[in-house]
Amino acid sequence: MNNLIVSPSILSADFSKIVEDVKSIENANAKWVHLDVMDGIFVPNITFGPKFIKDLRKHSNLYFDAHLMIENPEKYIDEFAKAGCDGICVHYEATKHVHRALQMIKATKKDVGISITPATSVDLLIPVLSEVDQVLIMSVNPGFGGQTFIDYSLEKIKQLHKLKVENGYKYKINCDGGISTHNIRKLREAGIDVVVTGSAFFGAQDREAFIKEMYDKGNF
Ligand code: DX5
Ligand code: ZN
Repeated sequence: MNNLIVSPSILSADFSKIVEDVKSIENANAKWVHLDVMDGIFVPNITFGPKFIKDLRKHSNLYFDAHLMIENPEKYIDEFAKAGCDGICVHYEATKHVHRALQMIKATKKDVGISITPATSVDLLIPVLSEVDQVLIMSVNPGFGGQTFIDYSLEKIKQLHKLKVENGYKYKINCDGGISTHNIRKLREAGIDVVVTGSAFFGAQDREAFIKEMYDKGNF
């Protein structure tokens, strides 16, 4: 398995020197940056919105991977698209009309993503799997960095991978929360394509060496 994508989450960056921290992602040879948008309602934390992303867009050519942890995300999809996100991922639990929200993302020509929290079953996503470019499995409860990986997430990834192979779906499988060099191998064996890493990346002594180790362990 080649071409592991690592998507460092700026939730663990220093917002007072955000451009420098985002440059460190590029310098470390990661290709994506994960943007955790939180509204204080869907999750017990608040981060940033489209204006912040729009401003950051001028400073980076990374793939902007937006993870919207906000209620009624359909209200803001156009704003996030205009801000320059490349992929927009909404939560299954955050809208009454998941299919409509996904169609709205598709209409912006951005990559369409759906995410589930640890207590939500993959089975609930089956009707929309043919519509999405990315499925993001949360392996911690959303809201904060630095939490412990929930092991049964691996079963969800295996199930999604099986569904993908059996049906010829094209989505990337992404996992978010508690990921580092110690569990990347297991995640890849389960069928993951993209991993988010926040505290492990920004806490690493040598960020480039950290990403290299993720690729070394994850590409086999
Ligand atoms: C949590 C966020 C994650 C978070 C991951 O709600 O969605 O993207 O930044 O952080 P770590 O890698 O520290 O678990
Ligand atoms: Zn995230």
